[in-house]
Amino acid sequence: MPEDNMETHTCTAPVNIAVVKYWGKRDEDLILPINSSLSVTLHQDQLKTTTTVATSKSFEEDRLWLNGKEEDISHPRLQSCLREIRRLARKRRNDDDPGLDSRGLSHKVHICSVNNFPTAAGLASSAAGFACLVYTLAQAFGVEGELSLVARQGSGSACRSMHGGFVQWLMGHQNDGKDSFAQQVEPETHWPELRILVLVASAERKHVGSTSGMQTSVQTSQLLKYRAESVVPGRMVEMIKSVRRKDFPAFAELAMKDSNQFHATCLDTYPPIFYLNSVSHQVINLVHRYNSHYGQTRVAYTFDAGPNAVIFTLEQHIPEFVQAVRHFFPPETNGSEFIKGLPVSHVNLPEELKQAIGLEPMPRGISYMISTKPGPGPCVVKDSTQHLLGPDGLPKSTVKHLLLGRDIGVKHKNCY
Ligand code: DP6
Repeated sequence: MPEDNMETHTCTAPVNIAVVKYWGKRDEDLILPINSSLSVTLHQDQLKTTTTVATSKSFEEDRLWLNGKEEDISHPRLQSCLREIRRLARKRRNDDDPGLDSRGLSHKVHICSVNNFPTAAGLASSAAGFACLVYTLAQAFGVEGELSLVARQGSGSACRSMHGGFVQWLMGHQNDGKDSFAQQVEPETHWPELRILVLVASAERKHVGSTSGMQTSVQTSQLLKYRAESVVPGRMVEMIKSVRRKDFPAFAELAMKDSNQFHATCLDTYPPIFYLNSVSHQVINLVHRYNSHYGQTRVAYTFDAGPNAVIFTLEQHIPEFVQAVRHFFPPETNGSEFIKGLPVSHVNLPEELKQAIGLEPMPRGISYMISTKPGPGPCVVKDSTQHLLGPDGLPKSTVKHLLLGRDIGVKHKNCY
């Protein structure tokens, strides 16, 4: 069914990693958190979601394809985002510009979304996914304004993927959630030396999802209540200061302490939730021993709701630390495949450093690493050949190839 009246928009959105964690909601429907949080947006050259939204009078129903497979669009959080964008579009037409073309408001949408990173990377793909969905829907329906308020209703952490660089999600205090949105603290260009390594742990078991995990924590953990009320407010202030001053040791210590406290609240949850495994514990030891060898905080770790570590360090320390990871987690092959993303030069690991760290190597504990840096927020893809939906409003056959050829580190020059 060729669509003469079809309109198509494609956008990309980034993944973000929190250094002051969000864990716990005070309102489950509106997704309002019990504390503010702060994250770093990762560069889309390495990790991103791409979404195409097509609208047409001839579409009979809203439809969604995720990573090549048609999914049920009735999921309440998807519905919240769709409803909210349509409401804002209607409001804009009525309030601001009654002359605005009303075409498309009643049209159904087809949505097609792909990640350029494997789900197995254990990264919060829902953050990039909902950020991209909301940003692209807003393009399609001509909606402007505070879109992080809408993305938040898809997945809490998604609101922070609506900006690049260093981003805070202000918890807000109102019951309607209108003051719970994300704000850029500093742009991605602010700290050019900052580097990020995602360490993908091999044997990832199925773990408790963030939504249900945080629900149980709110119900049972007193430590979480203490954290939200008495620790995070001061930590947010300190973290923002460390980012503004580009004070790596302060930033790194706060990030590690916050990750540790988040996992402590998971352990304080009843029944307890375990996200970290023996590989995660070895990474934690490696980082602390590395730092103590140099008498300086050069490297930091943080962990979300899974065993994969995200490492922060400065560019000058990347080659040696990557080598240390390779030494203490010997990969299957010594090939370059172990490190994807931004190129890392080779150095030899000093013997005395190996001795000082003194850990027993864990062969194949880490399957690969992704090297990246802070990056920009969502982008519009202007090149129409990049649309994921064809002129018939269905996923192009190239979507399947795209998924097969997912290659982190290939530059996609589609942000303008
Ligand atoms: C540990 O945003 O995935 O990654 O709002 O229920 O969708 P929902 O949860 P989600 O939780 C993220 C939790 C975290 C910490 C963080 O990103 O701040």
